[in-house]
Amino acid sequence: VPEIDLLSPLAIRGVTLRNRIVMSPMCQYSAEDGLANDWHLVHLGSRAAGGTALIIVEATAVTPEGRISPADMGLWGEQHVEPLARIARFVRSQGAVAGIQLAHAGRKASCEPPWLGGASITSAEAGGWEVVGPSPIPFRDGDPVPVPLDEPGIEAVIDAFEAACRRALEAGFQVVELHAAHGYLLHEFLSPLSNQRTDRYGGSLDNRMRLVLRVAERLRGVMPPELPLFVRISATDWVEGGWDIEQSVVLARHLKGLGVDLIDVSSGALVPKATIPVSRGYQVPFARRIRDGAGIMTGAVGMITEPGHANEVITAGDADLAFIGRELLREPYWAIRAQHELDGEPSWPIPYGYAVKRRAR
Ligand code: FNR
Repeated sequence: VPEIDLLSPLAIRGVTLRNRIVMSPMCQYSAEDGLANDWHLVHLGSRAAGGTALIIVEATAVTPEGRISPADMGLWGEQHVEPLARIARFVRSQGAVAGIQLAHAGRKASCEPPWLGGASITSAEAGGWEVVGPSPIPFRDGDPVPVPLDEPGIEAVIDAFEAACRRALEAGFQVVELHAAHGYLLHEFLSPLSNQRTDRYGGSLDNRMRLVLRVAERLRGVMPPELPLFVRISATDWVEGGWDIEQSVVLARHLKGLGVDLIDVSSGALVPKATIPVSRGYQVPFARRIRDGAGIMTGAVGMITEPGHANEVITAGDADLAFIGRELLREPYWAIRAQHELDGEPSWPIPYGYAVKRRAR
Protein backbone atom coordinates (compact mmCIF):
# COMPACT_ATOMS: atom_id res chain seq x y z
CA VAL A 1 0.00 0.00 0.00
CA PRO A 2 1.59 3.30 -1.03
CA GLU A 3 1.96 5.74 1.85
CA ILE A 4 -0.45 8.66 1.93
CA ASP A 5 1.36 11.97 2.25
CA LEU A 6 0.82 15.69 1.65
CA LEU A 7 1.25 15.25 -2.09
CA SER A 8 -1.17 12.32 -2.46
CA PRO A 9 -4.39 13.08 -4.30
CA LEU A 10 -7.65 12.71 -2.40
CA ALA A 11 -11.00 11.81 -3.92
CA ILE A 12 -14.04 12.97 -1.97
CA ARG A 13 -17.30 11.90 -3.61
CA GLY A 14 -16.80 12.82 -7.29
CA VAL A 15 -14.13 15.47 -6.75
CA THR A 16 -10.40 14.75 -6.78
CA LEU A 17 -7.93 17.07 -5.05
CA ARG A 18 -4.46 16.94 -6.62
CA ASN A 19 -2.77 17.05 -3.18
CA ARG A 20 -3.73 17.63 0.46
CA ILE A 21 -3.03 21.39 0.54
CA VAL A 22 -6.03 23.68 1.06
CA MET A 23 -6.19 27.45 1.10
CA SER A 24 -8.04 28.25 4.31
CA PRO A 25 -10.91 30.75 3.88
CA MET A 26 -9.69 34.27 4.66
CA CYS A 27 -11.83 37.42 4.63
CA GLN A 28 -10.40 40.21 2.52
CA TYR A 29 -12.88 42.92 3.59
CA SER A 30 -12.55 44.20 0.03
CA ALA A 31 -16.02 43.74 -1.47
CA GLU A 32 -18.68 46.33 -2.17
CA ASP A 33 -22.31 45.29 -1.71
CA GLY A 34 -21.04 41.74 -1.27
CA LEU A 35 -19.67 41.57 -4.82
CA ALA A 36 -16.42 39.78 -5.66
CA ASN A 37 -14.04 41.88 -7.76
CA ASP A 38 -10.62 41.77 -9.44
CA TRP A 39 -8.82 41.66 -6.08
CA HIS A 40 -10.58 38.42 -5.17
CA LEU A 41 -9.85 36.94 -8.59
CA VAL A 42 -6.11 37.64 -8.32
CA HIS A 43 -5.89 36.77 -4.61
CA LEU A 44 -7.58 33.38 -5.06
CA GLY A 45 -6.39 32.75 -8.61
CA SER A 46 -2.72 33.13 -7.74
CA ARG A 47 -2.96 30.40 -5.07
CA ALA A 48 -4.70 28.12 -7.58
CA ALA A 49 -1.89 28.77 -10.07
CA GLY A 50 0.51 28.19 -7.16
CA GLY A 51 -0.33 24.51 -6.84
CA THR A 52 -2.86 24.53 -3.98
CA ALA A 53 -5.39 21.72 -4.43
CA LEU A 54 -8.49 23.40 -3.01
CA ILE A 55 -9.15 27.11 -2.79
CA ILE A 56 -11.87 28.06 -0.31
CA VAL A 57 -13.35 31.51 -0.85
CA GLU A 58 -13.62 33.57 2.34
CA ALA A 59 -16.67 33.65 4.62
CA THR A 60 -19.45 34.67 2.23
CA ALA A 61 -22.55 36.06 3.87
CA VAL A 62 -25.92 34.47 3.19
CA THR A 63 -27.77 37.67 4.16
CA PRO A 64 -26.65 41.32 4.28
CA GLU A 65 -27.03 41.29 8.12
CA GLY A 66 -24.82 38.19 8.21
CA ARG A 67 -21.74 40.15 7.15
CA ILE A 68 -18.94 40.77 9.65
CA SER A 69 -18.28 44.13 7.97
CA PRO A 70 -19.87 46.14 5.16
CA ALA A 71 -16.95 44.97 2.95
CA ASP A 72 -17.66 41.24 3.26
CA MET A 73 -18.40 39.01 0.32
CA GLY A 74 -22.03 37.91 -0.09
CA LEU A 75 -24.28 35.48 -1.94
CA TRP A 76 -27.68 36.79 -0.94
CA GLY A 77 -28.66 37.77 -4.49
CA GLU A 78 -28.38 36.68 -8.12
CA GLN A 79 -26.05 39.65 -8.76
CA HIS A 80 -23.36 37.89 -6.73
CA VAL A 81 -23.22 34.79 -8.91
CA GLU A 82 -21.35 35.95 -12.02
CA PRO A 83 -18.38 37.65 -10.30
CA LEU A 84 -17.90 34.47 -8.24
CA ALA A 85 -18.36 32.27 -11.30
CA ARG A 86 -15.45 34.10 -12.92
CA ILE A 87 -13.27 33.14 -9.94
CA ALA A 88 -14.46 29.52 -9.89
CA ARG A 89 -13.75 29.20 -13.63
CA PHE A 90 -10.19 30.49 -13.26
CA VAL A 91 -9.45 28.36 -10.19
CA ARG A 92 -10.68 25.26 -12.02
CA SER A 93 -8.72 26.15 -15.16
CA GLN A 94 -5.56 25.81 -13.04
CA GLY A 95 -6.32 22.24 -11.98
CA ALA A 96 -7.51 23.34 -8.53
CA VAL A 97 -10.90 22.72 -6.98
CA ALA A 98 -13.07 25.75 -6.22
CA GLY A 99 -14.69 25.88 -2.78
CA ILE A 100 -16.60 28.56 -0.89
CA GLN A 101 -17.44 29.11 2.76
CA LEU A 102 -21.03 30.14 3.56
CA ALA A 103 -21.45 32.20 6.68
CA HIS A 104 -23.64 34.28 8.95
CA ALA A 105 -21.80 36.44 11.49
CA GLY A 106 -24.62 36.56 14.06
CA ARG A 107 -23.76 38.78 17.02
CA LYS A 108 -20.30 39.51 15.57
CA ALA A 109 -21.78 41.28 12.52
CA SER A 110 -21.74 45.01 11.73
CA CYS A 111 -18.09 45.73 12.53
CA GLU A 112 -15.32 47.76 10.94
CA PRO A 113 -12.68 45.85 8.98
CA PRO A 114 -9.88 44.73 11.34
CA TRP A 115 -7.33 47.18 9.98
CA LEU A 116 -9.67 50.00 11.07
CA GLY A 117 -9.89 48.50 14.54
CA GLY A 118 -12.76 46.03 14.16
CA ALA A 119 -15.12 47.94 16.46
CA SER A 120 -18.89 47.52 16.24
CA ILE A 121 -20.60 49.97 13.91
CA THR A 122 -23.53 50.93 16.05
CA SER A 123 -25.55 53.29 13.86
CA ALA A 124 -27.19 53.02 10.47
CA GLU A 125 -25.69 56.42 9.52
CA ALA A 126 -22.22 54.93 10.02
CA GLY A 127 -23.17 51.95 7.83
CA GLY A 128 -24.07 49.49 10.57
CA TRP A 129 -27.15 47.36 11.24
CA GLU A 130 -28.93 45.51 14.04
CA VAL A 131 -27.23 42.22 14.92
CA VAL A 132 -28.98 38.95 15.72
CA GLY A 133 -28.00 35.95 17.83
CA PRO A 134 -29.41 33.12 19.91
CA SER A 135 -29.69 35.21 23.08
CA PRO A 136 -29.36 38.88 24.09
CA ILE A 137 -25.71 38.52 25.12
CA PRO A 138 -23.17 40.77 23.37
CA PHE A 139 -19.76 39.53 22.20
CA ARG A 140 -17.82 42.22 24.06
CA ASP A 141 -18.96 44.40 26.95
CA GLY A 142 -20.44 47.52 25.40
CA ASP A 143 -21.21 45.90 22.03
CA PRO A 144 -24.81 46.18 20.81
CA VAL A 145 -27.04 43.55 22.38
CA PRO A 146 -28.05 40.99 19.70
CA VAL A 147 -31.75 40.58 18.96
CA PRO A 148 -32.63 36.93 19.67
CA LEU A 149 -33.87 35.15 16.55
CA ASP A 150 -37.47 33.94 16.86
CA GLU A 151 -38.68 30.77 15.06
CA PRO A 152 -39.54 32.58 11.79
CA GLY A 153 -36.16 34.33 12.00
CA ILE A 154 -34.43 30.96 12.35
CA GLU A 155 -36.37 29.54 9.38
CA ALA A 156 -35.33 32.57 7.32
CA VAL A 157 -31.66 31.98 8.17
CA ILE A 158 -31.91 28.33 7.14
CA ASP A 159 -33.62 29.34 3.88
CA ALA A 160 -30.88 31.93 3.24
CA PHE A 161 -28.15 29.30 3.66
CA GLU A 162 -29.96 27.05 1.20
CA ALA A 163 -30.46 29.82 -1.36
CA ALA A 164 -26.82 30.87 -1.09
CA CYS A 165 -25.74 27.26 -1.55
CA ARG A 166 -27.80 27.00 -4.75
CA ARG A 167 -26.12 30.17 -6.03
CA ALA A 168 -22.67 28.84 -5.11
CA LEU A 169 -23.39 25.74 -7.18
CA GLU A 170 -24.69 27.89 -10.02
CA ALA A 171 -21.38 29.79 -9.88
CA GLY A 172 -19.48 26.52 -10.38
CA PHE A 173 -18.17 25.84 -6.88
CA GLN A 174 -17.45 22.16 -6.27
CA VAL A 175 -17.00 22.23 -2.48
CA VAL A 176 -19.21 24.11 -0.02
CA GLU A 177 -17.99 24.71 3.52
CA LEU A 178 -20.50 25.70 6.19
CA HIS A 179 -18.99 28.15 8.70
CA ALA A 180 -19.96 26.97 12.18
CA ALA A 181 -16.81 28.24 13.93
CA HIS A 182 -15.19 31.38 15.36
CA GLY A 183 -18.14 32.73 17.35
CA TYR A 184 -20.38 33.41 14.37
CA LEU A 185 -24.09 32.58 14.33
CA LEU A 186 -24.01 28.77 14.14
CA HIS A 187 -21.26 28.52 16.77
CA GLU A 188 -23.23 30.97 18.95
CA PHE A 189 -26.11 28.47 18.96
CA LEU A 190 -23.76 25.58 19.85
CA SER A 191 -22.10 27.18 22.85
CA PRO A 192 -23.88 27.45 26.21
CA LEU A 193 -21.92 30.67 26.80
CA SER A 194 -23.80 32.50 24.02
CA ASN A 195 -26.97 30.39 23.85
CA GLN A 196 -29.25 30.63 26.87
CA ARG A 197 -32.48 29.90 25.04
CA THR A 198 -35.22 27.86 26.66
CA ASP A 199 -36.91 26.76 23.40
CA ARG A 200 -35.96 23.76 21.21
CA TYR A 201 -32.81 25.59 20.05
CA GLY A 202 -31.26 25.97 23.52
CA GLY A 203 -30.44 24.06 26.67
CA SER A 204 -29.51 20.44 25.93
CA LEU A 205 -26.70 19.55 23.53
CA ASP A 206 -29.29 18.21 21.07
CA ASN A 207 -31.13 21.52 21.16
CA ARG A 208 -27.96 23.63 20.76
CA MET A 209 -26.88 21.48 17.79
CA ARG A 210 -30.32 21.74 16.15
CA LEU A 211 -29.66 24.83 14.01
CA VAL A 212 -26.34 23.73 12.53
CA LEU A 213 -27.69 20.24 11.86
CA ARG A 214 -30.77 21.64 10.15
CA VAL A 215 -28.62 23.91 7.96
CA ALA A 216 -26.24 21.06 7.08
CA GLU A 217 -29.18 18.84 6.17
CA ARG A 218 -30.64 21.51 3.88
CA LEU A 219 -27.28 22.11 2.17
CA ARG A 220 -26.74 18.39 1.62
CA GLY A 221 -30.24 18.28 0.15
CA VAL A 222 -29.43 20.83 -2.55
CA MET A 223 -25.91 19.61 -3.27
CA PRO A 224 -25.53 16.99 -5.96
CA PRO A 225 -24.27 13.66 -4.56
CA GLU A 226 -20.94 14.04 -6.37
CA LEU A 227 -19.98 17.27 -4.57
CA PRO A 228 -18.46 17.44 -1.07
CA LEU A 229 -19.84 19.36 1.90
CA PHE A 230 -17.46 20.48 4.67
CA VAL A 231 -18.25 22.08 8.02
CA ARG A 232 -15.77 24.28 9.89
CA ILE A 233 -16.14 24.18 13.66
CA SER A 234 -14.37 25.59 16.67
CA ALA A 235 -13.53 22.38 18.52
CA THR A 236 -13.41 24.27 21.82
CA ASP A 237 -14.19 27.71 23.20
CA TRP A 238 -11.09 27.38 25.43
CA VAL A 239 -13.36 28.38 28.34
CA GLU A 240 -14.58 26.22 31.25
CA GLY A 241 -18.29 25.52 30.78
CA GLY A 242 -18.23 26.39 27.08
CA TRP A 243 -18.32 24.33 23.89
CA ASP A 244 -15.61 21.66 24.00
CA ILE A 245 -13.97 18.79 22.14
CA GLU A 246 -16.29 16.13 23.60
CA GLN A 247 -19.36 17.94 22.27
CA SER A 248 -17.50 18.47 18.98
CA VAL A 249 -17.03 14.72 18.54
CA VAL A 250 -20.77 14.19 19.09
CA LEU A 251 -21.59 16.97 16.61
CA ALA A 252 -19.20 15.49 14.04
CA ARG A 253 -20.94 12.10 14.32
CA HIS A 254 -24.31 13.74 13.65
CA LEU A 255 -22.91 15.73 10.73
CA LYS A 256 -21.43 12.58 9.27
CA GLY A 257 -24.86 10.96 9.49
CA LEU A 258 -26.27 13.82 7.43
CA GLY A 259 -23.74 13.30 4.65
CA VAL A 260 -21.15 15.89 5.63
CA ASP A 261 -17.81 14.73 4.24
CA LEU A 262 -15.18 16.55 6.28
CA ILE A 263 -14.85 18.59 9.47
CA ASP A 264 -12.43 21.51 9.20
CA VAL A 265 -11.21 21.78 12.78
CA SER A 266 -10.42 25.23 14.13
CA SER A 267 -11.04 26.62 17.63
CA GLY A 268 -11.97 29.64 19.71
CA ALA A 269 -13.28 33.14 18.95
CA LEU A 270 -16.65 32.76 20.69
CA VAL A 271 -15.64 35.05 23.53
CA PRO A 272 -12.95 37.75 23.51
CA LYS A 273 -11.34 36.65 26.77
CA ALA A 274 -10.12 33.10 26.33
CA THR A 275 -6.59 31.89 27.02
CA ILE A 276 -5.49 30.06 23.88
CA PRO A 277 -2.14 28.26 23.80
CA VAL A 278 -1.30 29.31 20.24
CA SER A 279 1.74 27.41 19.01
CA ARG A 280 2.89 25.24 16.12
CA GLY A 281 0.01 22.99 15.06
CA TYR A 282 -1.90 23.67 18.29
CA GLN A 283 -5.29 22.65 16.83
CA VAL A 284 -4.04 19.46 15.15
CA PRO A 285 -4.85 17.21 18.16
CA PHE A 286 -8.52 18.25 17.85
CA ALA A 287 -8.58 17.19 14.19
CA ARG A 288 -7.12 13.85 15.27
CA ARG A 289 -9.64 13.40 18.05
CA ILE A 290 -12.60 14.09 15.76
CA ARG A 291 -11.20 11.89 12.98
CA ASP A 292 -10.80 8.97 15.41
CA GLY A 293 -13.88 9.66 17.52
CA ALA A 294 -16.40 10.27 14.76
CA GLY A 295 -14.85 8.32 11.88
CA ILE A 296 -15.03 11.31 9.55
CA MET A 297 -12.38 13.00 7.45
CA THR A 298 -10.85 16.10 9.00
CA GLY A 299 -8.85 19.12 7.97
CA ALA A 300 -6.17 20.46 10.33
CA VAL A 301 -5.57 24.20 10.48
CA GLY A 302 -3.62 26.73 12.50
CA MET A 303 0.07 27.48 12.63
CA ILE A 304 1.04 24.93 10.02
CA THR A 305 3.68 26.77 8.03
CA GLU A 306 6.37 24.26 7.04
CA PRO A 307 5.84 21.64 4.32
CA GLY A 308 7.55 19.00 6.48
CA HIS A 309 5.14 19.67 9.32
CA ALA A 310 2.09 19.64 7.04
CA ASN A 311 3.35 16.34 5.63
CA GLU A 312 3.66 14.83 9.13
CA VAL A 313 0.06 15.81 9.92
CA ILE A 314 -1.07 13.75 6.92
CA THR A 315 1.31 10.80 7.25
CA ALA A 316 0.54 10.47 11.00
CA GLY A 317 -3.18 10.25 10.21
CA ASP A 318 -4.01 13.33 12.28
CA ALA A 319 -6.03 14.77 9.40
CA ASP A 320 -6.83 14.20 5.74
CA LEU A 321 -6.18 17.76 4.56
CA ALA A 322 -3.83 20.54 5.68
CA PHE A 323 -5.49 23.97 5.63
CA ILE A 324 -2.95 26.76 5.25
CA GLY A 325 -3.92 30.33 6.13
CA ARG A 326 -1.43 33.13 6.69
CA GLU A 327 1.54 31.27 5.21
CA LEU A 328 -0.33 31.27 1.88
CA LEU A 329 -0.76 35.04 2.22
CA ARG A 330 2.98 35.36 2.72
CA GLU A 331 3.79 32.96 -0.09
CA PRO A 332 1.13 32.36 -2.78
CA TYR A 333 3.20 29.56 -4.37
CA TRP A 334 3.72 27.71 -1.04
CA ALA A 335 2.33 24.48 -2.52
CA ILE A 336 4.94 24.54 -5.26
CA ARG A 337 7.67 24.99 -2.63
CA ALA A 338 6.17 22.11 -0.66
CA GLN A 339 6.25 19.91 -3.76
CA HIS A 340 9.93 20.79 -4.28
CA GLU A 341 10.85 20.17 -0.66
CA LEU A 342 8.99 16.86 -0.47
CA ASP A 343 10.49 15.77 -3.77
CA GLY A 344 7.31 15.85 -5.77
CA GLU A 345 6.87 17.29 -9.25
CA PRO A 346 5.58 20.83 -8.75
CA SER A 347 2.20 21.60 -10.32
CA TRP A 348 3.44 24.64 -12.21
CA PRO A 349 0.99 26.70 -14.20
CA ILE A 350 1.04 25.27 -17.74
CA PRO A 351 2.77 28.30 -19.33
CA TYR A 352 5.69 27.84 -16.89
CA GLY A 353 5.84 24.10 -16.39
CA TYR A 354 7.34 23.06 -19.74
CA ALA A 355 10.13 25.56 -19.19
CA VAL A 356 11.05 24.94 -15.57
CA LYS A 357 10.07 21.36 -14.66
CA ARG A 358 13.05 19.55 -13.20
CA ARG A 359 12.31 16.20 -14.83
CA ALA A 360 11.36 17.53 -18.25
CA ARG A 361 14.59 19.39 -18.90
C1 FNR B 1 -8.99 34.22 8.73
N1 FNR B 1 -9.66 33.07 9.16
C2 FNR B 1 -10.92 32.80 8.67
N2 FNR B 1 -11.54 31.63 9.00
C3 FNR B 1 -12.71 31.29 8.45
O1 FNR B 1 -13.25 30.24 8.75
N3 FNR B 1 -13.33 32.14 7.56
C4 FNR B 1 -12.77 33.32 7.19
O2 FNR B 1 -13.31 34.02 6.34
C5 FNR B 1 -11.56 33.71 7.80
N4 FNR B 1 -10.97 34.90 7.54
C6 FNR B 1 -9.66 35.14 7.90
C7 FNR B 1 -8.98 36.27 7.43
C8 FNR B 1 -7.63 36.46 7.74
C9 FNR B 1 -6.91 37.63 7.16
C10 FNR B 1 -6.96 35.52 8.55
C11 FNR B 1 -5.50 35.67 8.88
C12 FNR B 1 -7.64 34.44 9.05
C13 FNR B 1 -8.92 32.02 9.87
C14 FNR B 1 -8.05 31.22 8.90
O3 FNR B 1 -8.84 30.53 7.95
C15 FNR B 1 -7.17 30.20 9.66
O4 FNR B 1 -8.02 29.28 10.30
C16 FNR B 1 -6.27 30.87 10.69
O5 FNR B 1 -5.59 31.98 10.10
C17 FNR B 1 -5.25 29.90 11.26
O6 FNR B 1 -4.45 29.33 10.26
P1 FNR B 1 -2.96 29.88 9.93
O7 FNR B 1 -3.08 31.28 9.45
O8 FNR B 1 -2.16 29.80 11.22
O9 FNR B 1 -2.44 28.95 8.88
